[in-house]
Amino acid sequence: MNPILSQTAEKSLLDDTKTLKRLQMNHKKNLEQDHTKLLDAAAIGFRYEDCKDSYWNPEPFSLLWGTPIWDGATQKQRVLLNQLYWVAYYSQIISAEIATIFFNQTAGAALYGIEDFRLVCDTLDTESSQERAHINAFKKVSEDMEASVFGERVFSYAMRGPYAETMLHSDTDRLKSLWKGIQLRGYTVLSSSNAFVGCQYFTVRGVRTLNGKLVQHQLSHYYSKSADKEAMPAPAKISYYHFMDESYHFNSSMLISKDVINTLKKPTAVESTVANMALRGCQKDHENFSTAINGIFWYDPSVFPVIEKLLRLPAFGLSQKDAKELIRRSFCEENDGMHASQATHRTACESYKTYLAELDYVWKENKEMAIMSKSDIGRHLAQNRRAFASA
Ligand SMILES: [Fe+2]
Ligand SMILES: [Fe+2]
Repeated sequence: MNPILSQTAEKSLLDDTKTLKRLQMNHKKNLEQDHTKLLDAAAIGFRYEDCKDSYWNPEPFSLLWGTPIWDGATQKQRVLLNQLYWVAYYSQIISAEIATIFFNQTAGAALYGIEDFRLVCDTLDTESSQERAHINAFKKVSEDMEASVFGERVFSYAMRGPYAETMLHSDTDRLKSLWKGIQLRGYTVLSSSNAFVGCQYFTVRGVRTLNGKLVQHQLSHYYSKSADKEAMPAPAKISYYHFMDESYHFNSSMLISKDVINTLKKPTAVESTVANMALRGCQKDHENFSTAINGIFWYDPSVFPVIEKLLRLPAFGLSQKDAKELIRRSFCEENDGMHASQATHRTACESYKTYLAELDYVWKENKEMAIMSKSDIGRHLAQNRRAFASA
């Protein structure tokens, strides 16, 4: 930043050499290790036939694992539930990454409006391009699997835009969705025109990525710890390649939200409020844990119809009455799957608190994850029982 001529910012990112070096290193390493080509090759070469009989994730990362549905499933059905975990999990990730691409662009637009942010914007461009490769691989595998096994969609969906609800199965209705859509559009305008809000988006992204990191690390082990990597099914390879790219994305979220932010002016009361409302929205999105799927914070009552549909498809072949009873036993009574999902939710909640601990502008309600912390087995059971009874 030229110190003689007037500029839009008081401090320059270029003067913070420590942060600058870390940003440069993270961007350079991500470019060197970029997994786009490997992900594209895995997606192009994917044939469901080649890996239809194998697990794609460690066994506990199977849909409905530890519930009566899982306990009563045949080995063949367990393979399907394991593969469906992959499909459901990454279908949710597709939705999150569509939003990420969009907000990388809006935040980048705001940050490029002040001096010396080229490196940050270049980093975000690389990441957005990688997200498109991630989405492509997840979509190809998910759609091929569901078309081959069921001949119809179960968890996958046709391409969607960034204003759709990010959580595929949340506690929502038309009015709540409409209000969220309005807030999202407001946040879009602010994040693309206000450097603090743009920069703070990476706190939201960092927190959201933390849970992904916790689960995806375990999914990636299925490939990385295998003795014969070449023989591993393509979806397991994709989990690993994706996790490798995402570790750089998480680093950049940390750097931008905790270090780069110090280059900007202290937030005004309005900017702080917008930032905290966004974090509050993140807490609301991650308020529940799901017995159906460990590690994705869906609202189970909105997953019931999908599980019922699945159980009635020829691969499971249950009558409507039997499907409903099995859903009741799996979601309305305590079981190992429910406890495993709650444990992941608690770990995520604690890691979010650690992430936010040193950020001055964050409100107590967000620092303590007050909304998310309310979730426990008793409340989960009561919610599911109420929804089941009124269905
Ligand atoms: Fe990704
Ligand atoms: Fe990412």
